[in-house]
Amino acid sequence: MHEEPSRRRDFLGLAAIWSSALAMGAAIAGMLRLPKPAVLPGPLRVFKLGDPAQFAVGSVTKLEAANLLLFRDEKGFHAISSVCTHLGCIVAHNEGEGFACPCHGSRYNEDGAVIAGPAPTGLPWLEISLSPDGQLEVNAESQVNRGTIFRA
Ligand code: FES
Repeated sequence: MHEEPSRRRDFLGLAAIWSSALAMGAAIAGMLRLPKPAVLPGPLRVFKLGDPAQFAVGSVTKLEAANLLLFRDEKGFHAISSVCTHLGCIVAHNEGEGFACPCHGSRYNEDGAVIAGPAPTGLPWLEISLSPDGQLEVNAESQVNRGTIFRA
């Protein structure tokens, strides 16, 4: 028993229409999702460090959770990221010698400037401020110019 050619044509025509309708529906659903972000922002990387007076002049405080070092000297505070600008390893700080990356050998001076590659740029200096309750805060998402000192 053979199907009639016209019934086969009708079936193929309906299948094409339904396939087109499904594809159009999927495209419209995708367009309606565009205004919503597919990637949600991560947690704000602002770290409260406490009372500025607790950091002695001449101290270097390593904050592993924030991947930064906080320096206090007679002029004030500055914070330097400890994330290597080459591929993101955590650099080691050797007081008086600067920073050294264990992964590929980049070296930075005490201010975070590159003295040996392959790091393409220096270690970022991070923004420091005082919170409304008087605590020192470092914003790990916000860079400041090298040499920027925060006076509490
Ligand atoms: S990640 Fe630091 S030198 Fe490569």
